[in-house]
Amino acid sequence: MFLYLLGLVVLFYLFRWARELPRVGDKASKYVYITGCDSGFGNLLARHLDKIGFRVIAGCLTEKGEEGLKKACSANLITTHLDVTSKESLAKVAAMIKDKVGERGLWAVVNNAGVAVPSGPCDWHTLDDYKFMLDVNLNGVIGVTLSVLPLIKKARGRVVNVASVFGRICVTGGPYPVSKFGVEAFNDSLRFTLAPFGVKVLCIEPGFFKTNVTDSEIHIKNIQTLWDRLPQDVKEDYGVEYIHKSKEVTKEKVSQMSDGDLMKVVSCMEHAVSAAWPRKRYSPGWDAKFFWLPLSYMPTCVVDYLFLKNAIPIAKKLQ
Ligand SMILES: NC(=O)c1ccc[n+]([C@@H]2O[C@H](COP(=O)([O-])OP(=O)(O)OC[C@H]3O[C@@H](n4cnc5c(N)ncnc54)[C@H](OP(=O)(O)O)[C@@H]3O)[C@@H](O)[C@H]2O)c1
Repeated sequence: MFLYLLGLVVLFYLFRWARELPRVGDKASKYVYITGCDSGFGNLLARHLDKIGFRVIAGCLTEKGEEGLKKACSANLITTHLDVTSKESLAKVAAMIKDKVGERGLWAVVNNAGVAVPSGPCDWHTLDDYKFMLDVNLNGVIGVTLSVLPLIKKARGRVVNVASVFGRICVTGGPYPVSKFGVEAFNDSLRFTLAPFGVKVLCIEPGFFKTNVTDSEIHIKNIQTLWDRLPQDVKEDYGVEYIHKSKEVTKEKVSQMSDGDLMKVVSCMEHAVSAAWPRKRYSPGWDAKFFWLPLSYMPTCVVDYLFLKNAIPIAKKLQ
């Protein structure tokens, strides 16, 4: 019985491996629009897709980002200024893309741009903090997608959305997981809507990787900024030890947990763009596969117990 089951598992993985090998042809005529190419995954993906022959349109927030990419890539790669929170910016880039791709349409858009701060306990945030992050991480994804959807439909192309393990499970406060759960919901609703048009919608859910999003210096600075502006009564609830401990944990754990091999994520993005039969969801990173995803299927009480047991203690204990 055990051998029979093992055989089935082996057969399943063999079948999946073979099915995932074939790639789409004629890369040189396929345009791929990527957001957030100044740094991190977006930057590496732009370079990688350019190298293997796709026509890359790289959206960068800064001039420095555009210049760096131009120097590192072939003349085929197009860079453009893109702020995903600006309607004008989205429309301008979409018009440029329409002009470039013509009747072929746009093969793929990769919604990668994102921010990870401000991030802290929920009651350390203002509504504006939430609005700011949702504007980039969620409305940005929706806005970019809608701005080029007719071109994607024309090409019977793909939408690749970068969510996170924190779009599957939420064990931190602040707007980041809220935005990523939103990306997951948009991804799934879009997948159903666009399936009849032959458009594929794929989701990338990375674990922790070494980029600006997990940079402990940035997070420590962010914790201090949030703390400094808190009203006195909230500071007393948490206690000054809390902020010291938060910084310590951020410094030790975040860098320890983050994987330096960004190609693990970029290979998944490339597969979503170029495979004849891409996966609906990708979970790059050992932590995503063996910790966060399995945990997301656990009962809520188990997850709460595990994380509250190890949470940083607050000053004001319940009577
Ligand atoms: N690293 C991880 O562990 C991890 C895990 C799960 C999911 N993710 C997700 O992966 C995606 C890429 O992040 P990353 O880790 O590669 O970090 P990153 O290096 O900070 O990349 C994010 C990119 O988005 C750009 N960006 C920020 N605001 C923007 C805006 N308003 N308009 C256009 N672009 C904007 C940033 O530009 P500037 O550099 O100029 O600010 C940067 O190029 C994000 O969606 C992130 O949430 C990351």
